[in-house]
Amino acid sequence: MWSGPHPDGRTAVAVRAGPHVGEDGRVTVDPSPTVRMADLRRAYAEHGLAESDLAPTWLGQFHRWFADAEAAGVAEPNAMVFATASPAAQPSLRTVLCKGVDQRGFTLYTNLGSRKGRDALANPQASLLFPWHPLERQVIVGGTVERVDPAEADAYWVSRPYGSRLGAAASPQGQVIASRRVLEDERERLAREYPDDIPRPEGWGGLRVRPDTVEFWQGRADRLHDRLSFRRDGDDWVVDRLAP
Ligand SMILES: Cc1cc2nc3c(=O)[nH]c(=O)nc-3n(C[C@H](O)[C@H](O)[C@H](O)COP(=O)(O)O)c2cc1C
Repeated sequence: MWSGPHPDGRTAVAVRAGPHVGEDGRVTVDPSPTVRMADLRRAYAEHGLAESDLAPTWLGQFHRWFADAEAAGVAEPNAMVFATASPAAQPSLRTVLCKGVDQRGFTLYTNLGSRKGRDALANPQASLLFPWHPLERQVIVGGTVERVDPAEADAYWVSRPYGSRLGAAASPQGQVIASRRVLEDERERLAREYPDDIPRPEGWGGLRVRPDTVEFWQGRADRLHDRLSFRRDGDDWVVDRLAP
């Protein structure tokens, strides 16, 4: 590990790879991560997205691209970044798993007492992002959040493995805890109390993001990407092409 001023005068915090001695005996020091990031660029040339390619609905188009992401072997293709904002407009993000999508929107499950849960219930404006980088694609959703009804949340809860249910029930998501031990003790206590089945905690449930916009972004050559965005317009949807 090397740290200190960069040989060419830039300040670098730390460089993970230490000095490197080449075959010719010359010692080189890797540039800082920031310098390397600035040089990382990839030419997007795989696909295009024309208006004539689009499915008639955002849902149909989402299904097509989701199938492509699965077929391409994208790891956790249903992982999405969920952005919320507090009533004071403080934004926050986290990855969650999408557990269903239909005309009503995108469903996720979580501890409703968590930061995301509290934010979404107090300020129901939210955004989602599916980062399908191997396909040079992203889907970005903007909309409002509603709570999934309890019967639907119960149906999903019972479909989860027993261990995940115990873990979810044992974790006061987002709260400061004294140690990992606190979680493990609580899981053991719950396992003794509910050896076969564990009821869904009241504070654990589903949130659905009802979209007002769904943008399909496809990387193209020379940064002239395609961005086609479905926008809710009363009872209809219109498609806008956005400059990249
Ligand atoms: C791939 C992945 C999937 C995740 N899925 C979920 C999920 O479905 N629900 C959930 O509550 N947290 C999930 N998490 C954990 C969240 O990112 C986050 O740490 C947690 O929900 C607490 O967020 P909050 O404190 O902002 O509310 C996932 C994390 C990763 C990396």
